Amino acid sequence: MALKADVQKILNAQLDKEFDASVVYHGMAIYFEKELLPGMAAWFKKQVDEERGHAGKIIEYMMDRGADPVIPATKAPKMSYANPLAALKGAVAHERANTAGIYACLEAAQKAGDPATVEMLQWFVKEQVEEEKWADEYAAMIEKVQSSIGALYAVDHRIGKAASAD
Ligand SMILES: [Fe+2]
Ligand SMILES: [Fe+2]
Repeated sequence: MALKADVQKILNAQLDKEFDASVVYHGMAIYFEKELLPGMAAWFKKQVDEERGHAGKIIEYMMDRGADPVIPATKAPKMSYANPLAALKGAVAHERANTAGIYACLEAAQKAGDPATVEMLQWFVKEQVEEEKWADEYAAMIEKVQSSIGALYAVDHRIGKAASAD
């Protein structure tokens, strides 16, 4: 059964969000590397690939359904932030927007009576729980230590370990 037009449209809108997140995180990775915070740089480099992977999953699914995925033009990301917390707050906002996008896709798929798309989106529903979790946690950790460079380095080290853990 062909993918309905409104489901196709909203999946393409989600592709836009996933590519945008990838590019924004690439800007953050460069920012953190320049700030001499290699742990956070490594974490965000990993997110660049993860977000591309999310886009890839949606593209493959659309191809399987004979639909037309559209790779979007991405906006140039910010390359610097006022401080590490501002970058992490940006990540929190991006993950929340991506979750809202997934929920909108799910609602459209349910309305269209499209169980295959509903099923495909379940992976993203779970993934977004994890994505919001790290973003919220890292923002909270950085908020606590931002006035102490020593503590900030300790948090950076911990985030770097998490980046290489899985
Ligand atoms: Fe994503
Ligand atoms: Fe994400």
